[in-house]
Amino acid sequence: MLGCAVRFRLLWRGPAERRPDCMSSYQSIPSSIDELQSMLAREEYVSDRALSTSVYLALKLRRPILLEGEAGVGKTEVAKALASALGRDLIRMQCYEGLDINHAVYEWNYSRQILEIQLMRNDGALDRQAAASELFRREFLIERPLLRALEHGGPPPVLLIDELDRADEEFEGYLLEMLSDYQVTIPELGTVRAAQPPIVLITSNRTRELHDALKRRCLYCWIDYPDFEKEIRIVRVKVPDASAALSEQATAFVQELREAELYKTAGVSETLDWVAALVALNETRLSAERIDETLGILLKNQEDIQAVRGDPVRAMLDRARHRGVRMSYAGQEPSTAWVTSSKT
Ligand SMILES: Nc1ncnc2c1ncn2[C@@H]1O[C@H](COP(=O)(O)OP(=O)(O)OP(=O)(O)O)[C@@H](O)[C@H]1O
Ligand SMILES: [Mg+2]
Repeated sequence: MLGCAVRFRLLWRGPAERRPDCMSSYQSIPSSIDELQSMLAREEYVSDRALSTSVYLALKLRRPILLEGEAGVGKTEVAKALASALGRDLIRMQCYEGLDINHAVYEWNYSRQILEIQLMRNDGALDRQAAASELFRREFLIERPLLRALEHGGPPPVLLIDELDRADEEFEGYLLEMLSDYQVTIPELGTVRAAQPPIVLITSNRTRELHDALKRRCLYCWIDYPDFEKEIRIVRVKVPDASAALSEQATAFVQELREAELYKTAGVSETLDWVAALVALNETRLSAERIDETLGILLKNQEDIQAVRGDPVRAMLDRARHRGVRMSYAGQEPSTAWVTSSKT
């Protein structure tokens, strides 16, 4: 159905907050990178050119895309935004250590099968041969995310295979067949092939290297921490209640913080949580005291917090002021918030 301009109605099963009602119209894939970028922007996802290009090509070439990057840089969110923008169902498979086929693809419903045997026995109809074929019928099969994505009727869904690096290598091996041919084999039933391939996004935090064989089947995009310009756009979109000065100062401070040598630095999610917290505290500008008090929202490691609290925070705030002013001189969007707040 890709490339088809006809619009369909379908039951929306994506994140509820993205759709006011449960029906949405299905969009054909965008005709340009710019169009995709605008569609994502309408879903409040700020995408840079590199990411938009990769996602656009993945749609166009019908190839899975592997998104790697640090924690909290928007890997999962891009899949949600894309599904919402295209009006497709989002099927999400969260990976974890020990994830197996039973939880990822399908499982036989043992309790229903036992009940069925009981009923057959009660009816006096228990015949070994017949029971085997009776018990492995479709109705006793529980579909898990991968099978659901392959069997999905209507417009291809977005299949998010999230944090694949957490799953075992054997499972990654299993994915190869699925990603190459969009099919899985169920010994008792045969091969299930997708009528149309789902739109597959795989994410990884790179806690381990994924196999080359898997990477070869995917397009690849590394999502880096955003630069000041991108991050402030995200903050403005996601925390609209923050004052312009606070958004700018907080973003510049986080950019400085990321340059410090820390065990674990702040991702975009931490920036957003932090700015929302400052708004909740009725702050309209940034002060060193408030930063010290709220560091636990930005940094989740005690050694890191101790390392930056106090003088380092003041030095970073100072550098952040210069960064803000530099951006203003460079003709970028940031306002002159720092000029009036330089005494904080
Ligand atoms: N480019 C962006 N545009 C809009 N929001 C963003 C963007 N990047 C990150 N966010 C926001 O930051 C938060 C974290 O994003 P997300 O969960 O996608 O990160 P992630 O890379 O999947 O992190 P993790 O590796 O921890 O799962 C979300 O609330 C998301 O809305
Ligand atoms: Mg994620």
